Amino acid sequence: MQEYSRGLKRQNKKIGFVPTMGYLHEGHLSLVSRSIKENDITVASIFVNPLQFGPKEDFKKYPRAIKADEAMLKKAGVNALFYPTAAGMYREPYYTYVDVERLSEPLCGKSRPGHFKGVATVVAKLFNLVTPDIAYFGQKDAQQAIIIRKMAEDLNMGIKIKTVPTVREKSGLAVSSRNAYLNPEEKKDAAILYKSLLLAKRMIKGGRGSAGEIITKMKALIKQKRSARIDYVEIVDEKTLKPVRKVHGSILIALAVYIGKTRLIDNLRLNVRW
Ligand code: PAJ
Repeated sequence: MQEYSRGLKRQNKKIGFVPTMGYLHEGHLSLVSRSIKENDITVASIFVNPLQFGPKEDFKKYPRAIKADEAMLKKAGVNALFYPTAAGMYREPYYTYVDVERLSEPLCGKSRPGHFKGVATVVAKLFNLVTPDIAYFGQKDAQQAIIIRKMAEDLNMGIKIKTVPTVREKSGLAVSSRNAYLNPEEKKDAAILYKSLLLAKRMIKGGRGSAGEIITKMKALIKQKRSARIDYVEIVDEKTLKPVRKVHGSILIALAVYIGKTRLIDNLRLNVRW
């Protein structure tokens, strides 16, 4: 992979990179088309990274479809697909990790300890292998994109991080590989995540500025679905990821909700000027 990239750099080609865990969908493809638009060469990677899954999480049953993925990427116009093995990425003994402190602790970090350390570590490794000019991440995983941007900045990686808007189904449900776990009933219920975000947006537009009040209303709406169990609903400052009391400036309304046994996340970015 490094050799391929080096060759491209010698020809002054601009490399765009889209890291994924595969089981590709419209969300992934929107990152790919952005990269193709903005670079000479687009590299995608598929690697289900064991390091970012907790011991009780779905690493083993995470959906995989490498052949279909490969065909989709080819059709989309990707120039190269990098799909390393876990043994190749973490050759024993393996000792080196990247931990983006503070930003990895709140929100999803609370219920998934070690998750973002696993993400930052694998993305740092992928960056070193692919050496892109620009890397693309989805707004759907807002905390992840914020952490990676900070990592690239703190470690002087010289890679531009771009965030691409969340792709949604008609119902508003954010497209996700994990939606494959939902049965038809649960899939209907799952639209409540986005509905609750829209409720928050309406409240803010209507002049309601208390984060606590907005969160209470969002939780009440979500709880109307019997299959839903809330992990968190929070309104945080987009830079620090710390909870805000009054809604103001660049904020992130973020939530994680179990629908049945499937944990789903979603968020909305707002820039609020009263
Ligand atoms: P994965 O879940 O496969 O997602 C790969 C990229 O696609 C991420 O940047 C994610 O935010 C983006 N994405 C997923 N669903 C999206 C949607 N509905 N709209 C827009 N973008 C969407 O995120 C990971 O993999 C991994 O943690 C990874 C970064 C590859 C590190 O292992």
